[in-house]
Amino acid sequence: MKLAILPGDGIGPEIVAQAVKVLKALDIKDLIMTEAPIGGAGYEAFGDPLPDSTLQLAKDSDAVLLGAVGDWKYDKLERHLRPERGLLRIRKELNLFANLRPALLYPELAGASTLKPEVVSGLDLMIIRELTGDIYFGQPRGISTLENGEREGINTMRYNESEIRRIGRVAFDIAMKRRKNGQKAKVCSVDKANVLETTELWRQVMIELSAEYPEVELSHMYVDNAAMQLIRAPKQFDVMVTGNIFGDILSDEASMLTGSIGMLPSASLDANNKGMYEPSHGSAPDIAGKDIANPLATILSVAMMLRHTFNDEANATRIEFACKKALSMGFRTADIYTEGCKKVKCSEMGDAVVAALN
Ligand code: IPM
Ligand code: MG
Repeated sequence: MKLAILPGDGIGPEIVAQAVKVLKALDIKDLIMTEAPIGGAGYEAFGDPLPDSTLQLAKDSDAVLLGAVGDWKYDKLERHLRPERGLLRIRKELNLFANLRPALLYPELAGASTLKPEVVSGLDLMIIRELTGDIYFGQPRGISTLENGEREGINTMRYNESEIRRIGRVAFDIAMKRRKNGQKAKVCSVDKANVLETTELWRQVMIELSAEYPEVELSHMYVDNAAMQLIRAPKQFDVMVTGNIFGDILSDEASMLTGSIGMLPSASLDANNKGMYEPSHGSAPDIAGKDIANPLATILSVAMMLRHTFNDEANATRIEFACKKALSMGFRTADIYTEGCKKVKCSEMGDAVVAALN
């Protein structure tokens, strides 16, 4: 089992260090970890946010564990040299079209959410975001100068039906696996079919596909309404499936239902369950190097990796249980701290999870 470790920028290295600590504590046989730079770190080392050597390592590995990319100090670089471009390229190069972003509220954190506990308690939803298409990658794109001297910016929202169908399948399959005691599996497809043709096609393809999944109840929601419903009554959802840009926005929103974006792991999978695993949050350069970030999203991403790529459900559950235990023992990083708990540093939270493994 080969694992590429790409810590990246900002808090990336410190949170990844905790995840690696937990992984080492599991003492999994034949696991080879190799580290490489990406994002701003790739630019510093090789003048490229996705150096060839890093891409090659990622291609040769079974899975990739990524911290985060980005720092304000790179904002002035040409667009193709910026850290975010490294992240978008590795997603595209590895064909990681299915992004799984679970939003699960740990009962211990019900008080840390900005929403009322009764609105969020018991929340367990999965956002499935298409990750290699849409306005993120569509051509034409760019900023150009018109004949009258005025500048114009262009991006293009586009999806073809095979791209929609393959992400739809992931959503339906996951909904069936998640089905709990006697309840019907549910998928809510999020679009803007009243305005955008791209997503009108999205809706049509989802409806066609649903004929193959009679066990799953498919519903549709416009993205503006979905944003509102997520705050109003988030527990109505089980699996949400949507395109790249809507998924980017809705998954940040959903993360706050769980108390902190510092809690949310993610998996980005190709058609063969090879995957890249990363926290849903960003590089938080403002708190980088202070050892105060929350490493749980990254540690939980390792659990997703063991489950989805390495088929190691036992160790995945062991990690998730250890994270829960660390929380129930009162350990909290600053972002999820509430009165009466023990405020710990990033590395101490890592230690607490390792201790709870046993
Ligand atoms: C995410 C991030 C990225 C995205 C950025 C860093 C390019 O916001 O993973 O959600 O927009 O996909
Ligand atoms: Mg985002």
